[in-house]
Amino acid sequence: MEKIRIRGGPDLPLRGSVRVSGSKNAVLPAIAAALLTENKIRLENVPLVRDVYSMMTLLGELGAEGDLRENVLEMQVPRIHREEASYDLVKVMRASILVLGPLVARFGKAIVALPGGCAIGSRPIDLHMTGLHKLGASITLEHGYIKAEAPRLQGADIHFEKNTVGGTENIVMAASLARGETILRNCAREPEVQNLCELLVKMGAKIDGIGEETMRVTGVDSLGGAVHEIIPDRIEAGTYMVAGALTRGDIILDRVRPDHLVTTIEKLRYCGARIETPETGKIRVVGSAEIHPEDITTSPYPGFPTDMQAQFMVLLTQASGTSIITETIFDRRFQHVNELLRLGASIEVSGDKAIVRGPSRLSGAEVIASDLRASAGLLLAGLIAGGETVVNEVEHIDRGYEAIEAKLRQLGARIERIKE
Ligand code: UD1
Repeated sequence: MEKIRIRGGPDLPLRGSVRVSGSKNAVLPAIAAALLTENKIRLENVPLVRDVYSMMTLLGELGAEGDLRENVLEMQVPRIHREEASYDLVKVMRASILVLGPLVARFGKAIVALPGGCAIGSRPIDLHMTGLHKLGASITLEHGYIKAEAPRLQGADIHFEKNTVGGTENIVMAASLARGETILRNCAREPEVQNLCELLVKMGAKIDGIGEETMRVTGVDSLGGAVHEIIPDRIEAGTYMVAGALTRGDIILDRVRPDHLVTTIEKLRYCGARIETPETGKIRVVGSAEIHPEDITTSPYPGFPTDMQAQFMVLLTQASGTSIITETIFDRRFQHVNELLRLGASIEVSGDKAIVRGPSRLSGAEVIASDLRASAGLLLAGLIAGGETVVNEVEHIDRGYEAIEAKLRQLGARIERIKE
C-alpha cells in the first residue's frame, strides 16, 4: 500500500513552474479509436498515468500491439483475438466501456462487462446502449456483460437524452464506420470529445459540427492510421492552479490551453487570484491573501467541471465567508467532505449541495482517498493543513495525475510517497 505524506502549513506558498501533461480523458478514447483501423495510430503527449496502462492492457488482451515510449504511444490492431472486455479490467476503469462502439463497428461484435457501482455515483451506461441500438446493433445483457452485435451498423438520428462524454465518444466512433449518415444531437462538447473527433477525421472519418451540440457523421467503409497530439489536461492544470491560489503562491503552468479553462479561470478570479496568460501555452497564478467565497454549480462543458469540484471545495474552506457548491453531474460525489471535516473544515452536505464555511484553520491528519479527484482535493488540503497529512489509497491519484508528488515538490511542497 502506498501513501503520500505532506508536511503543510498556512504559510508555505508554492512557487515556480510546472509542466502540464497530456489529458487522461482525451487519451483514453483515442486509444480505443485504434480498434477502428488495421493501421498504426501514433499518439503524442500521452500522460504516463495508470489509466493509460489499463487501457493498453485491455487493448492488448483484445489483440492490439502497443508501444509506449517517452509519452508517445503507437498502437496497431491488425486483427483481434477476442471481442470481450473482462470485468477485471472494466471494474478498475469505467472508460473501458469505450471499446464497445469501436469493436462492434469494425468486428460486428462486442462483449463488455457492465461497470457496476462506482465511488462517485451509479454512473449508468444506458445512453451508450441506446445509441448503439439505434445504429442497428442488437444488445443483450447476460451474466453481467453487455453483448452488442451487428453485421454492419446503419446510420441513424440519435438524440442523447442527457449530456454524456463517454456516450458521445462511443457513438461517434461507431457511427464513423456505419453505413450512411448519423446525426448526433445534444452531444457533449468537452475538449476531449473534440480531440477524439479530430483524430477520427485524421483517420478518414467524415464528421461535421465538431465541438457543437449537433454532429453529422457520414460513415466510411474503413479508417486508416494517423498521428495525433493529445491536448493538455485541463483538470490537471486546474488542480495546480487551485494549489497556487490556495497556498497564496505564484506559479506558472507550462503547456496549457487557457481556452479550455475559461470557467476555472473565471472562478479563481472571483475568489481573488490573479491569473495571467503571459505567453502562448502558459498561465500564471498569483494567489491573494484574502480568498473570497463563491458559489459553484457543476455542469457539462463549457460549464464548471465536476472534476474540479473537490479541489475548489478545498479552496473555499479558506474563503472569508460561506460558499455553496451544487453538484449536478454525479450523485455521491461529496465523499471527500468527511475527510476534509477530519482536517478541520466546516462543510455541511444537503442533497446535491455542500455549504462550505470559511476560513477554517486545517490541521494535518490521516485521510483516505475515495476517488481520483477527491484524492487531488485531499493533497491540496494537505498543503495548507498544519503538520503532517497522510493520504492513504493513493492508487486513485495515480490513475490520472502524472508524477504528482514530483511536480508539487518542484513547486516547493514538502511531499513524499511512502511505500509500506
Ligand atoms: C467523463 C470523464 C469524467 C467526468 C465526466 C463528466 C472520461 C474518461 N471521464 O466520464 O472524468 O467526470 O465525463 O464530465 O472522460 N449518464 C447516464 N447514462 C449514460 C451515461 C451517462 O445517465 O449512459 C449520466 C452519468 O451518470 C452522469 C452524466 O450522465 O450523471 C454524465 O456522465 P458522462 O458524461 O457519461 O461521464 P463519463 O463519460 O463516464
